[in-house]
Amino acid sequence: MAAKKIFASAEVAGELLGKDSVTLVNNRTGEQHHFPIVDGTEGPSLIDISNLYSQTGMFTYDPGFTSTGSCRSDITFIDGEKGILLYRGYPIEQLVDGADYLDVCYLLLHGELPSKLEGEQFAAVITNHTMLHEQLVSFYRGFKRSAHPMAIMVGVVGALSAFYHSDTDVHDPYQRMVAAHRLIAKMPTIGSYAYKYSKGQPFMYPKNDLTFSENLLRLMFAVPSEEYTINPIVAKAIDRILILHADHEQNASTSTVRLAGSSGANPFACIASGIASLWGPAHGGANEAVLNMLHEIGSVENIPKFVARAKDKDDKFRLMGFGHRVYKNYDPRATIMRQSCHEVLDELGVSDPLLPIALELEKIALKDSYFIEKKLYPNVDFYSGIILRATGFPVPMFTVLFAIARTVGWVAHWKEMYSGDETQRIGRPRQLYTGARRRDFQQLEIRKNRSPNWLRLWAGKK
Ligand code: CMC
Repeated sequence: MAAKKIFASAEVAGELLGKDSVTLVNNRTGEQHHFPIVDGTEGPSLIDISNLYSQTGMFTYDPGFTSTGSCRSDITFIDGEKGILLYRGYPIEQLVDGADYLDVCYLLLHGELPSKLEGEQFAAVITNHTMLHEQLVSFYRGFKRSAHPMAIMVGVVGALSAFYHSDTDVHDPYQRMVAAHRLIAKMPTIGSYAYKYSKGQPFMYPKNDLTFSENLLRLMFAVPSEEYTINPIVAKAIDRILILHADHEQNASTSTVRLAGSSGANPFACIASGIASLWGPAHGGANEAVLNMLHEIGSVENIPKFVARAKDKDDKFRLMGFGHRVYKNYDPRATIMRQSCHEVLDELGVSDPLLPIALELEKIALKDSYFIEKKLYPNVDFYSGIILRATGFPVPMFTVLFAIARTVGWVAHWKEMYSGDETQRIGRPRQLYTGARRRDFQQLEIRKNRSPNWLRLWAGKK
């Protein structure tokens, strides 16, 4: 592969790579280095700098990976400037209209939409894995009733690795496939039990004649003493939310899963690391944060005050559900979510006082020069919370639903790492070291008599 070639000289490299290269000039030394340009099927070209260090003795510096491609991937494509999202080439809008969540899982995992038979077999396999080992169920009792359900998710999904370690050889494709099926199938059960536990209600067993979304609703809201009737509007809304959250290429949690998996670690433990990463308010935790923010705003008159706070550099407050690393245009998922929000509330006959606040906030922010200049638009999390509230989901469970949906994306990326990509290696970024130069150990007697001020150090001050 051209990317791996080390050339005898800069001239030879430039000649061989021709136009499909980028030349880097070191202005300290005048040396020239040539790097191949690699093209994907969509999106900007990348400069392959995998032999940068061997050529130049230097690394790249890119905190937050704003300009760095970490892998090759066939799964999801985002055009952030145009607001396009494709799963395996299919536009998200078409998938939301034409597919159900398990079709999308199949598509993400296998690259094609399932035929009727493939779809039926896949659904049968997934439903076969929905129950939890009874001993895993007893784990829940170790948590405080008030524990955040995402904390429980991290713990219980991580604990799956203790149950399935001996039959999870990551180098065996069959065992990888079974691990993937187990993860996708068990997530609704694990997530709903976190909720049931907080309520003190009995855990429900999954029911295999229901769809993925119907089963999730039943696990969440049914009690053994009563028949549970599934509202088809709610089931459809949940299915749509699951599809919209199923994958989003190399986001923080997916990159976490890939990095954890790159060492050959147990996949259940890798997915637990993805859940931990997702939980933060800058990522999947934003849906919960949006709802809390709308509550805090309280009424339309207060919006300008909060918008002003979001623009104030000295105030840590941000408009939650706004902005995205990749989308510099409307997040296409937010467009669908906004539309869906109106439909679901209308169909259910729910009038949520938070909706007018959200609509007005969006209107004001989209006209504000700060948000226009920084290209900050509503993202997927802005309206999802209002839909989830209307369907009866408690706010702390919002990010759990995101984790349930995203599991297939994490698993598809984890699977892809083992699918013959010869560039796949353990993930190991480098750093710009800014600490002390080498120095000799100081004996206690000669150390300065400082009074401890650790808080200052923890606050990042020297
Ligand atoms: N409110 C106010 N200002 C903002 C916001 C916001 N929501 N988002 C970004 N900015 C400003 C930020 O202060 C910065 O200003 P300056 O250039 O003057 O320093 C500029 O916009 C760029 O922001 P950034 O933090 O450098 O951008 P990023 O790409 O590192 O962060 C983000 C992206 C999503 C973390 C950020 O926009 C954010 O914190 N948004 C709110 C949280 C949120 O809604 N997250 C959900 C993301 S979508 C779901 C998912 O896939 O995870």
